[in-house]
Amino acid sequence: MGTAVSVTPSARSRTPAGDPRIAPRVPAQFPAGWRLPAGERATFAKNAMAVSNSPLASEAATDILKRGGNAVDAAVALGFALAVTWPEAGNIGGGGYMVITLADGRTAAMDYREIAPLAATRDMYLDADGKLTDKSIVGHLASGVPGAVAGMARALERYGTMTLSDVMQPAIRLAREGFVVDSGLASSIRGTDRVPQFEGARVFFPNGQPLPAGARLVQPELARTLQAIADQGPAGFYRGWVADSLVAEMQRGGGIITTQDLAQYSPRERRPIRSTYRGFTLLAMPPSSSGGVTMTESLNILETWPSLGAHGSTQWYHAVASAYQRAFIDRNSKLGDPEFVPVPMDQLTSKAYARSLRATINDARATPTRDVDATMQALPREPMNTTHYSVVDQFGNAVATTTTLNGSWGSGVWVRGAGFFLNNEMDDFAAQPGMPNMFGLVQGEQNAIQPGKRMLSAMSPTIVLDSSQQVLLVAGAAGGPTIITGTSQVILNVLDHRMNLADAMRAPRLHHQALPDSLTIEIGGVAPAVQDSLRAMGWSLRPVRSLVNVNAIMRVKGGWEGVPEPRRSGGAVGH
Ligand code: GLY
Repeated sequence: MGTAVSVTPSARSRTPAGDPRIAPRVPAQFPAGWRLPAGERATFAKNAMAVSNSPLASEAATDILKRGGNAVDAAVALGFALAVTWPEAGNIGGGGYMVITLADGRTAAMDYREIAPLAATRDMYLDADGKLTDKSIVGHLASGVPGAVAGMARALERYGTMTLSDVMQPAIRLAREGFVVDSGLASSIRGTDRVPQFEGARVFFPNGQPLPAGARLVQPELARTLQAIADQGPAGFYRGWVADSLVAEMQRGGGIITTQDLAQYSPRERRPIRSTYRGFTLLAMPPSSSGGVTMTESLNILETWPSLGAHGSTQWYHAVASAYQRAFIDRNSKLGDPEFVPVPMDQLTSKAYARSLRATINDARATPTRDVDATMQALPREPMNTTHYSVVDQFGNAVATTTTLNGSWGSGVWVRGAGFFLNNEMDDFAAQPGMPNMFGLVQGEQNAIQPGKRMLSAMSPTIVLDSSQQVLLVAGAAGGPTIITGTSQVILNVLDHRMNLADAMRAPRLHHQALPDSLTIEIGGVAPAVQDSLRAMGWSLRPVRSLVNVNAIMRVKGGWEGVPEPRRSGGAVGH
């Protein structure tokens, strides 16, 4: 059987056609001059598909699928492979979330978010004058206790069919034998000023120079760590020499993760949020991620309009941005780790509550965030990273996984002798409630630091089911808070505007997170007349080159289409 492979930006294959359960697709129209024109094709595969930011990692997943593995086996293989081939965000030193739906009707939401170390304190990132430092972002103190290895192993044990050792073979091989650095990875290495400050510089900046595209990247220390995990399971990471190396690294740089922190880490299996949007069902990630709640709340508000208007119209931007603005006000003040703080899930995800929020939206005017919730303030901050992958198999199972070190290359700290980067996820807490974090998110006491607590995330791995409860779409994204808005817009583009997946991914995007009180748009993506109308309505527009990094799969007649993010690099590989 052949393999369908596509690597952005040159994705090519066949056009979707009409499955009786899939409404016919409508060609999209984007503003003149938009840099990602409509009409490109997705990668098609008949049986199974994996899409991620790394073609090699997607291939690793497809190898497992071809060997008869299910989507969970393949997703775990992909996750470990990403730790080798996309180390800016793929990881074993971070954490993530996995939403699963199985053909037998079971669904699951695996939470393997990092947790605050036992020695963490509420004000650990404030200096003597009470000012926020950058220690939650760079260096040893920035890391939460990693969850990725425990979470992926648990998902495999509960829902996979193969052994950890089997699914880790592609990752071990890639680390041990090496691979050729592609332009996507080379540009990411070139772009980091964090890695050169720490021990990983030896591997990624040999002789002080960033590894260029075409160089071979061999990671023997990482291969040894992965082999220990393959041989011993999570104990190979959380106990023994790998754990000792991590703790020694902490001690060298003033970090606080201990052997006790590592030994105690445990993932949580939760029930996915099951919501609906215009007759479709969404399976989304519950807290400790804010992704599912915020997306559900936004879509519930949007569903109160019979139609949102044409994609890219003033009416569409106004409605979508107003919905996000309100959902983010709730996100930033009411969500946190449900094991530590009460979370009003029923209220936030209810259609009645969405109707009451709809009543606060003036169809002719933007509402300043301070008028919706007068207590918040914020500043814009720098961009960030995470990575999402989507997998479907030939049996009707699907997996959406988002994983992260938080910022690109995490804290920059690389564990000597064990060969992996550590996260800077502590910055996802409200390190100083009421002050913005690196995403400009202004969050409250619900998300203050407490030992053992999971920091609130925006990761939104999501599976959309059609009216017959078959998998229609698997999606998720990287990009801090823009994960929520970007993922939900791909869903809206498919469900509301009936775009095919390639167009849905290429469509211009918007973002609003309540504070900063600005409507972020993509340069060239909004018609000048629409920009004028939005400004006249009171929106403060903030143009950026690019928003969000989504990787998605959609069911089409006779198979699946996969599209990696056209704004970044990636690969869709199927068979
Ligand atoms: N670290 C980004 C997020 O979890 O939202």
